[in-house]
Amino acid sequence: MNSPIILIGPMGAGKSSIGKRLARRLSLPYRDTDQLVEERTGVPITTIFELEGEKGFRQRENKVLAECSSAPAAVVATGGGIVILEENQKLLSANKHVVYLKASVNSQFQRTRNDKKRPLLQAEDPLLRLQQLADQRNPIYQRLANITINTDQQSMMSSAEEIIQELGLH
Ligand code: S3P
Repeated sequence: MNSPIILIGPMGAGKSSIGKRLARRLSLPYRDTDQLVEERTGVPITTIFELEGEKGFRQRENKVLAECSSAPAAVVATGGGIVILEENQKLLSANKHVVYLKASVNSQFQRTRNDKKRPLLQAEDPLLRLQQLADQRNPIYQRLANITINTDQQSMMSSAEEIIQELGLH
């Protein structure tokens, strides 16, 4: 395989956990765009949002995605909002292994309810926020993905195995 496997989908869909398992299973390096943005900036995402707003974060995220999508085989977990910028949509459309990890808003809520590190969920009504983001972004994830995996009813390990089957990598 000579192109990365890129995991897209909303917050709390399991992109990082499934991505790490998948990378281990396929003996590929694991990359995480949120983590790379934080490493390069030297501060947490919450601080980037405070100082530069979402716009600044999206620009930093775009640079990291451009690097990751042109690098050879790796598993790349992305942030939930990476699909918003048109430049990123182009980068993702050009890739053959884009996997949409799908989750219901209720699962997302259960998995993120105690989270303090996601600026977009520090809202008065995080469930409503998740629903609004899902309405806006789910059609984009669906359009950009080569395969879709529903993560609601299965373990992280089974999701990783399903990705391997669906991509024909077994
Ligand atoms: C975001 C999702 C987060 C992170 C940032 C913004 C979003 O990543 O990039 O807080 O816009 O949905 P995860 O999807 O890994 O939580």
